[in-house]
Amino acid sequence: MPGHKNGLLFPGKYREVLRHDLTEISGLDDLHHPEGAIREAQQLIAACYNTDRSYMLVNGSTVGNLAMILGTCKRGDTVIVSRDCHKSVMHALDLAGVHAIYLATQKEPQTGTANGIEASLLREALQMETIRAVIFTYPSYYGFSFDLAACITTCREFGALVLVDEAHGAHFQADASIFPVSAIQLGADVVVHSAHKTLPA
Ligand SMILES: Cc1ncc(COP(=O)(O)O)c(C=O)c1O
Repeated sequence: MPGHKNGLLFPGKYREVLRHDLTEISGLDDLHHPEGAIREAQQLIAACYNTDRSYMLVNGSTVGNLAMILGTCKRGDTVIVSRDCHKSVMHALDLAGVHAIYLATQKEPQTGTANGIEASLLREALQMETIRAVIFTYPSYYGFSFDLAACITTCREFGALVLVDEAHGAHFQADASIFPVSAIQLGADVVVHSAHKTLPA
């Protein structure tokens, strides 16, 4: 394994690249039980993003959203979800057996596109019942940021976990002078990134 046999079945430049495409043999580590190179890479990511822990994912932010919700919520919990969430969030809520209160998003004034939750509306929803977590999509699908800091402060008042699908914001921490502040820097509990969306992965 893999079937290309160290690239032997491919000509020219592909062979060179495929020589490095190997299965989980000794020394290459295992994503599901990392002890070597993958563990070290995850520690480097955590240091780079200044997180307690970082994990690499297979199958994109979809799996990140599933893990984020299944790892923090239990059957019967209630969560608040931004109405513009990705469908993987809805699938995760269904798998976890979690009750969702969907919050309408505010409109970005110039373009009229959906753009995050307003802290005052969030407060009203948090007052309704005990909420395990609030799930945000940040930035919006159209690349805008909103006042996530105010939303996080409100969540903290009510003891709700802050879960952020920051699929399109993996680059935010690269340069704070030109990009919005990342959810990690704002103190979110779990943040999901797509390195294949806004980084060259
Ligand atoms: C905001 C958001 N979250 C999650 C996903 C899922 O990402 P992936 O396709 O990497 O699983 C997408 C994909 O478009 C997305 O736009």
